[in-house]
Amino acid sequence: MNGHRQPTLMPLIVERDIKTRLAQLVGEIAEEASGQQLVVVIGLLKGSFMFLADMARLFYIHSIPLAIDFMMVSSYGAGTESSGRVEMTRDITTSIENQWTLLVDDILDTGRTMEFAEHHLRQKRPSKLKTCVLLDKPDRRVVPFHADYVGFTIPDEFVVGYGLDHNGRYRELPNLSVLSDKP
Ligand code: IMP
Ligand code: MG
Repeated sequence: MNGHRQPTLMPLIVERDIKTRLAQLVGEIAEEASGQQLVVVIGLLKGSFMFLADMARLFYIHSIPLAIDFMMVSSYGAGTESSGRVEMTRDITTSIENQWTLLVDDILDTGRTMEFAEHHLRQKRPSKLKTCVLLDKPDRRVVPFHADYVGFTIPDEFVVGYGLDHNGRYRELPNLSVLSDKP
């Protein structure tokens, strides 16, 4: 981002459209998980917090009991580009052995974060491990990762709001916007 100009937020997906899509998405997941006594939902911090909170309340409507946990991974490097190395900074404390498990993140970009997290969780032997992202930027993929559930497929733009940040800012915004330094 150009430090001399005020960044501009251009709305990409508004709150109401996010809510509509989430209802469909959770409906599909609930159908696949129906009959399960418990679904473990694991969110990747920090970006998934708002998405996960809204999804959790929709699972409640579908009478699917949840256990919710979080893990945190970080990629080396600053700004909007990462160096490609991912490390875990917080593991889950819930056992997922023999549990129907859903891994959730805000956005699938190069794919490295979700590939790392999925590989890590698979070693804990869940009975099923499904992956879900709110946003997918397929043009940016570096590793061949495919999410089982995708909210929206978007072009290669830097997006903030609804949990997604730029340098720690904008996570609280209810809409998803493209961050641009063009006036
Ligand atoms: P990946 O490992 O390259 O797939 O990156 C995924 C992570 O990068 C996400 O969890 C986000 O934290 C961050 N990220 C990638 N693209 C964006 C974006 O457009 N806005 C905000 N964060 C992003
Ligand atoms: Mg993130």
